[in-house]
Amino acid sequence: MNIVILAAGQGKRMHSNLPKVLHPLAGKALLAHVLDTARSLEPQRLCVVYGHGGDAVRTTIDDPDLVWVLQEPQLGTGHAVMQALPHLGSAGTTLVLYGDVPLIQTETLRQLLHAARDALAILTVELADPDGYGRIVRNAAGEVVRIVEQKDAMAAERAIREVNTGIVALPTVYLSDWLGRLSNDNAQQEYYLTDIVGMAVAAGVPIRTTLAQSESEVLGVNSKGQLAQLERVAQRRAAEHLMEQGVRLADPARIDVRGELLCGRDVFIDVNCVFEGRVVLEEAVEVGPACVLKNARIGAGSRLAAFSHIEGATVGPDGVIGPFSRLRPGTELAAGVHVGNFVELKNSKFAALSKANHLAYVGDAIVGSRVNIGAGTITCNYDGANKFKTIIEDDAFIGSDTQLVAPVTVGRGATLGAGTTLTKDAPPDTLTISRARQISIPGWKRPQKK
Ligand code: UD1
Ligand code: CA
Repeated sequence: MNIVILAAGQGKRMHSNLPKVLHPLAGKALLAHVLDTARSLEPQRLCVVYGHGGDAVRTTIDDPDLVWVLQEPQLGTGHAVMQALPHLGSAGTTLVLYGDVPLIQTETLRQLLHAARDALAILTVELADPDGYGRIVRNAAGEVVRIVEQKDAMAAERAIREVNTGIVALPTVYLSDWLGRLSNDNAQQEYYLTDIVGMAVAAGVPIRTTLAQSESEVLGVNSKGQLAQLERVAQRRAAEHLMEQGVRLADPARIDVRGELLCGRDVFIDVNCVFEGRVVLEEAVEVGPACVLKNARIGAGSRLAAFSHIEGATVGPDGVIGPFSRLRPGTELAAGVHVGNFVELKNSKFAALSKANHLAYVGDAIVGSRVNIGAGTITCNYDGANKFKTIIEDDAFIGSDTQLVAPVTVGRGATLGAGTTLTKDAPPDTLTISRARQISIPGWKRPQKK
């Protein structure tokens, strides 16, 4: 079986410099959705017909197993498939997909391929408003006799509500025979793939139609409005899928998964969270409202409170994060770590049960177990040119408003007094403090205005 994906169209109505098929849907290029579905059918050959913006498409998709076929100029859907013909061999079946119809389902295509073993199989759909589509014209016996494009259709034909989705499958021998005989004698002076229907009729080859299971799976993207509409469909599908697996969503209409979200049992996700890249939420994780997680792993039983932003980070089991925490790439928290509001962590490891509950910046640090990092603590890890490490050993207590000027080490069990600017290592089990001694001046008078 061969699959040919048509992706040479310009997409003028997107009003964008990005080729249409590279626009993202649920965090992935439109064409990548179609390719994933195509691969699930395990074709022998997978061809992409590209044209406009072609090089950007090829480099973005970057898959060595694809056969890239340039169509230049673009003279219609039939002409597009013609360009792929030399790569298809002559045996088996060929399935034609569109690169801008991203939500087509594997199961629907399996049915279509089944129908196409000895016939021309056309995926159709009934639309309340068929405007713009090619109409399926049937005879009195209900057999398909041709597809007429909107621009070539007469009034009576325009009233037909069953339309061509553009997705077809047929034995490759017929395809190569019929494509060679297409003409562009029509309103758009294009080589229409749909004209093969008339040729099938003439040759006595059966024509079978398969109805799409839903309208949304055959919707194409031609504009930003349609892209946004399909985004909602894709997100609804993702939400349904999560709920089927047992995830509790506060509102399935208010979650955005722009990548892969893997959840253990009894996970709860509150409204307006965004998941990007690959995110893993282990068993019984609770994600509060408006959290953003990108390429992150959250350990079992951890709670993320509202407005937490987590990227490239790992939270161990039973963590308590947020509200308003920011975990940046390279953050690795062991079990039972607490990170509170307005705390930013970057490239730092925290061992079990350590806490940074308020207003802190910890970067390039290795923090032991049961460490308490007070409010206003800052690791000064950057001298304007280079980054340096801060090491805080087990059971240390970092007083509020402390600056740790890296490279520096705080020994096991050490205490740093509030307001310390630590420029040398702090010995273990000792109070270290750098602070001007407090004095009080009796009888001191404030200056007076003259
Ligand atoms: C086509 C069908 C129409 C169907 C509709 C469904 C034909 C003649 N018409 O219409 O019956 O209802 O799709 O959306 O087939 N493409 C190329 N090269 C080209 C032209 C198109 O690669 O020269 C690609 C486009 O990128 C797109 C797909 O083919 O992915 C369909 O092109 P489009 O112009 O949208 O199809 P229509 O002419 O609207
Ligand atoms: Ca067209």
